[in-house]
Amino acid sequence: MTKSYAIAVLPGDGIGPEVVGCALDVLDAAEERYGFRTERSTFAAGANHYLETGELFDAVEAQLRDKEAILFGSMGDPRVTPGILERGFILEMRQRFQQAANVRPVRLYPGVPTPIADLTPERCEMVIVRENTEGAYVGRGSTVHAGTPNAVAMQESLNTRAGIERVVDFAFRLAVGRRRRLTLCHKTNILVAAGQLWQQVVADVGERYPEVEVDYVHVDAMCFHLPLTPERFDVVVTDNLFGDIITDLGAVIQGGLGVATSANLNLDGSAPSMFEAIHGSAPDIAGKGWANPAGAILSLALMLGHLGEGEAARAVEAATVEVLGSLPALAGAGMGATTAELGARIAAIVRDGRADTGLVPDSLLGVLAGLAPSRPAG
Ligand code: IPM
Ligand code: MG
Repeated sequence: MTKSYAIAVLPGDGIGPEVVGCALDVLDAAEERYGFRTERSTFAAGANHYLETGELFDAVEAQLRDKEAILFGSMGDPRVTPGILERGFILEMRQRFQQAANVRPVRLYPGVPTPIADLTPERCEMVIVRENTEGAYVGRGSTVHAGTPNAVAMQESLNTRAGIERVVDFAFRLAVGRRRRLTLCHKTNILVAAGQLWQQVVADVGERYPEVEVDYVHVDAMCFHLPLTPERFDVVVTDNLFGDIITDLGAVIQGGLGVATSANLNLDGSAPSMFEAIHGSAPDIAGKGWANPAGAILSLALMLGHLGEGEAARAVEAATVEVLGSLPALAGAGMGATTAELGARIAAIVRDGRADTGLVPDSLLGVLAGLAPSRPAG
């Protein structure tokens, strides 16, 4: 019997619908080629929907919860006060669905221009695993005397042993299947309380993985090691906020935000995982056909790997890499093709079975399947 997966699609705002449209064309092609099906439910969440109804994550939580995976575009719009959609939707989803590990591959693909002189794909092949539900992102804090010269703002960072442990254990398991090197990135010399807990957990969990070599780098030092000696890193595990910052730097190194992708993984199968490009909604270029769909299509590849369709995942990654490597520029009018044309090119390679998986010999994507259970449709 043909396998079928129930997925939720949230195109969202700005360039989200364009790039998700491309990802869905590629998904059609992958289904034809690899003989599986998806049952897709599309949700109108985002700025327009919020402005019309006031609804945020709450309104769709129950419907999303029984899906096997969520394909997400982007959210954010100049008409909505910053933070409302980000906190009220994206962070709510990550926290309520316990998407504990935000997995962000930083991999320079062959033929993709990087601003780092002499960097080669062989030297840049890491995965940053960002804790995704705690830290400064819990949104706790208080303000006293707001708007006066005596204003005081307190912003808290929550770190629980259980929260750190699950993401650190995931990072070790990921490292076991790769080059067996795990780097903790933190700021233990200043954030002493949280830093000590992170270090203790890495030491304790590391006892179960003696084959993995453990390394430590302060987050500020990471800002020069990442671009200059990326070969030092295999799996990097880090706190939510540090992970947010260093993965944007990672994206620059690998060719820009248009190329970078991420998986927000629920690690115990209690709720669906979510897959999103890491670029935002880019309202300034929405509708122009200037957005690079690679990030969204690679997030589809991560989703397929997670669902257990490893072969399709590898083909989608390889086809994307082939098309990326042929572009004169990675975004804007300089790409020499529109968003939709690029999506169609990638889909055609997948559909015709022409994807050269030799382009990504050590694909990350299949690995995900075994590391985080996907959720059976409810
Ligand atoms: C990301 C984004 C989000 C974050 C925003 C949009 C809430 O920057 O996924 O990295 O800060 O986590
Ligand atoms: Mg970010």
